[in-house]
Amino acid sequence: MTASIAITAVRKSYVARGREVLALDRVDLDIAPGEFVAFVGPSGCGKSTLMNMIAGILPIEEGRILHDGRPVNGINRNVGYMTQQDAVLPWRTVEDNIALPLRFHGMAGPARRARVEEMLAAVGLTGFARSFPGELSGGMRKRVAIAQLLAYEPGTLLMDEPFGALDAQLKLLMQEQLLRIWTERRQTVVFVTHDLAEAVTLAQRVVVFSGRPGRIKQIENVQLPPTLDVFRVRFLPEFEAAYTRLWDALAPEIRSGEAA
Ligand SMILES: Nc1ncnc2c1ncn2[C@@H]1O[C@H](COP(=O)(O)OP(=O)(O)OP(=O)(O)O)[C@@H](O)[C@H]1O
Ligand SMILES: [Mg+2]
Repeated sequence: MTASIAITAVRKSYVARGREVLALDRVDLDIAPGEFVAFVGPSGCGKSTLMNMIAGILPIEEGRILHDGRPVNGINRNVGYMTQQDAVLPWRTVEDNIALPLRFHGMAGPARRARVEEMLAAVGLTGFARSFPGELSGGMRKRVAIAQLLAYEPGTLLMDEPFGALDAQLKLLMQEQLLRIWTERRQTVVFVTHDLAEAVTLAQRVVVFSGRPGRIKQIENVQLPPTLDVFRVRFLPEFEAAYTRLWDALAPEIRSGEAA
């Protein structure tokens, strides 16, 4: 079967103020169609860099990335990408922000409005269609970005710390919502998080990156019974085992970063 995302020998260095920084080194990873994969790793290990390369925003200079069998070369319009700095436009209302990608995909006005309403309800923002982003809290803005991402149903979702700014309770609700959508539609999902519990709850495989230069250190296959109960799942022994293995892989990377 063709991988949804096939990453081969990817390496990336940045030159900043005359100094070369190797951000990613020798990254190889195949992600299957419909698979939910999480990336975890210390800050600065290249997770966003890799997401930007899959999305085609950052040129791939060494190695290659195929998406649905085709080399990524320029902006990849076949992925929905929620970047780490959300791209909600402050001068547009909530509904216009959510409708923007639907317009790009040629959806007619009435269908568009119906979809926007549906998405607002899904993220708990019914009644805020006419608000401007500046009138919302940080967590509400994040939810607008999530509604915008999910509205046009891309087959592949790239999400870079989408729930990082949410309070703990809302985060659980959004995880449940995302799992529900993924269970119905089976998109390929790449999800970056610093929250190991979130990674274990959502992902089928968790990829642990080393500190810079980012290399794949370990891949954990999470085997939990299928459930949408994102709260109770953490009391299962399988959850604890996966969490512990991930922590053991990640903790030394974080500690060595602090020492450096
Ligand atoms: N535009 C840039 N110019 C120069 N260096 C950069 C640039 N973008 C990223 N870097 C460097 O590349 C490394 C990887 O950055 P990246 O943003 O991919 O990390 P990350 O894993 O997403 O971190 P975080 O968890 O903090 O979001 C960092 O050390 C950073 O300093
Ligand atoms: Mg990042």
